Amino acid sequence: MGEVHRGKGGPGRDACRTPRARGDRSRASANGAGLAAAFLMAIAGTHGAAAEGGDPGKGEKLYRSCKSCHEIGANARNGVGPHLDGLFGRAAGSLEGFKYSSAMKELGRNGLVWNEFTLDVYLEKPREFVPGTRMSFRGMRDRDDRLHVIAYLKALSVNAPAGPEAAPVLARAEMGAVAMQLDGDAAYGEYLSSECVTCHQMSGRADGIPSIVGWPKDSFIRALFEYKTNIRSHQVMQNMTVNLGNEEIAALAAYFGALDPQ
Ligand code: HEC
Ligand code: HEC
Repeated sequence: MGEVHRGKGGPGRDACRTPRARGDRSRASANGAGLAAAFLMAIAGTHGAAAEGGDPGKGEKLYRSCKSCHEIGANARNGVGPHLDGLFGRAAGSLEGFKYSSAMKELGRNGLVWNEFTLDVYLEKPREFVPGTRMSFRGMRDRDDRLHVIAYLKALSVNAPAGPEAAPVLARAEMGAVAMQLDGDAAYGEYLSSECVTCHQMSGRADGIPSIVGWPKDSFIRALFEYKTNIRSHQVMQNMTVNLGNEEIAALAAYFGALDPQ
């Protein structure tokens, strides 16, 4: 997942850029997030209509790249990412029961609210707008694509956030079902994790290697089984999982799931 470095965006976009937004990863995340929020709030007033004109139909197809992590619509639940129901007007990092990075929570505390404009900036380059985010998504570089996906989010995101008791998971034959039934041993998971954290960051930062902390148990287990069985083909992760049994996978899910992102 290398970072593609590309030229500046289209004309007019760059006038709306803070210099900080480009590539200064070394900055402390909370500080960077605070600056980004201050910057956005300062200009959101004048650029409020920045993301109008998207086509929700096209957005639905583009939303496929979000679907593995986000649910949206009535009764949406948190998964690897927070649910996107009632997103418009919602403060960043504000859902109860979801383990956000501290960078995302800080943005929300500083007053950042999701709307067409803030989503446009975040979705272009999540890791630059929110240094320290644990969203493992490299961004959507094409402005029209972002407008379409935002139009789709707007159409689907009803203002009725789901309660924790909403929508029981439909019973279905599930890969990893046996491991999902186990009560994973977090201490054993910690022991096994030493190898994983040579690549994945314990802090939950998604800098090139995806974030794997704070995931719901079932999503984590499913992902490892998908590598193990090569449904997701990735040589490194296949090697990492091929010899892991149900106990090991459940233990890793318990350990990483309980870690708090920084
Ligand atoms: C690999 C999983 C993954 C993918 C793919 C992904 N996201 Fe996320 N998303 C996350 C995680 C995890 C967070 C929480 C980030 C944090 O706490 O820093 C998040 C946060 C967000 C937020 C902030 C929500 C809030 O409650 O503050 C929005 C909006 C969002 N994602 C939209 C999208 C959209 C739109 C797409 C597709 C274009 C997408 N995401 C793709 C995992 C993902
Ligand atoms: C040598 C580096 C490396 C090691 C070691 C490693 N991983 Fe990964 N892992 C990756 C990469 C790279 C990806 C992204 C693969 C892809 O694109 O599908 C990944 C993906 C994942 C994902 C899916 C992330 C997502 O957003 O869908 C999970 C879960 C995961 N790894 C867990 C683990 C666990 C648990 C261990 C230890 C047993 C581990 N990894 C060890 C490099 C590594």
